[in-house]
Amino acid sequence: MLAGKKIFLVIAGGIAAYKSLELIRRLQDRGATVRCCLTANAREFVTPMAVSALSQGPVYMDQFSLKDESEMGHIELSRQSDLLVVAPATANILARMAAGMADELATTLLLATDKPVLVAPAMNVRMWLHAATQANVATLKARGIGFVGPEEGAMACNEFGPGRLAEVPDIVSAIETMLNPRRPLAGKRAIVTSGPTVEPIDPVRFIANRSSGKQGHAIARALADLGAAVTLVSGPTALDDPAGVSVVHVESARDMLAACRAALPADVAVCAAAVADWGVDTVATQKLKKEPGGAPPAIRLVPNPDILATLSAPGNARPRLVVGFAAETEKLVEHATAKRARKGCDWIVANDVSAAAGTFGGDSNQVTLISESGADPWPAASKEAVAARLADRIAEALS
Ligand code: CTP
Repeated sequence: MLAGKKIFLVIAGGIAAYKSLELIRRLQDRGATVRCCLTANAREFVTPMAVSALSQGPVYMDQFSLKDESEMGHIELSRQSDLLVVAPATANILARMAAGMADELATTLLLATDKPVLVAPAMNVRMWLHAATQANVATLKARGIGFVGPEEGAMACNEFGPGRLAEVPDIVSAIETMLNPRRPLAGKRAIVTSGPTVEPIDPVRFIANRSSGKQGHAIARALADLGAAVTLVSGPTALDDPAGVSVVHVESARDMLAACRAALPADVAVCAAAVADWGVDTVATQKLKKEPGGAPPAIRLVPNPDILATLSAPGNARPRLVVGFAAETEKLVEHATAKRARKGCDWIVANDVSAAAGTFGGDSNQVTLISESGADPWPAASKEAVAARLADRIAEALS
């Protein structure tokens, strides 16, 4: 969580600058206030108007603006923040930072600050690998500046290699780690299930559901942020693997259970996956064919193993804390309380998935935590914020 944190974002002039717009949004989702400074070159890639509208504040650009100066001096500007982030950081701004230059507002702020600085480099692969850049990076690292990325991959300039801006969730995680060195779950092991399961019918067809995996992935990341060693067992989703988490990709409920068992022992298990209740009895080894005039095939379903109930069953391997989810459309507390007893888990995170709530696939969630001590409704929040709050509660329970 970044609630109450003030982040000063310096956007430098590279093609990845457009991703800084997404970064602003994700930081705000986590509760941060973001103020931005654009370098002169950055203004060729993103407009001050877009940055101002998204960050809901002024955009600082001009070293000698009387208006900015009268509202807040340069030094004040950099010092009122908890962290300065340079994303994307070009080879040029890294060189200027390493040389201690103050040739425009962005570099002046970076030189004047007494706050931690994190940079997310993004540039052409040859520029990144150039001895000059590598020497600048070494200088900056030696001064305590944090780095996230760059990543390896296909680049806008049609080359392949290191130089891509780190993914936005990874930049957010790095920011959180820099700002919250609190690691109450260090030394603890967690298993999180996430996403849908996919139950095969034949080699090309399957039964699945609409779970996006956003909540489960956010929980895995939040537990890792607090220092836990997390195994995320995920059905197929469109999401990137969260940073700092070990991810096991599975398809069916049976595979998901096997992967969870393999990840034991664990201190906590959070079952956020939308596991199919039934699988196909006999999966056809060849693609089912239509017979002209023939009847459609009959598919017999058999119950899938209940992963939550299995992990909750008493025994030596039972995690100390097992958390399940309940998706309800009515009588939320009543149904979720009954589910907690039925599954044998410690907590149930109950959420309203009626169409009006827009939870499935959406970015926000309103949950009620059902535990031994009753029902605790949480305010509606982003899935990241719900995950961070749950991770905090887990850390308290395991401490
Ligand atoms: N779960 C599981 N394995 C299953 C089925 C469910 O681990 N085979 C877990 C889910 O990850 C979730 C909880 O059990 O934590 C949900 O329980 P479930 O009985 O599936 O309830 P709902 O999906 O909420 O719906 P309903 O009660 O209507 O079946």
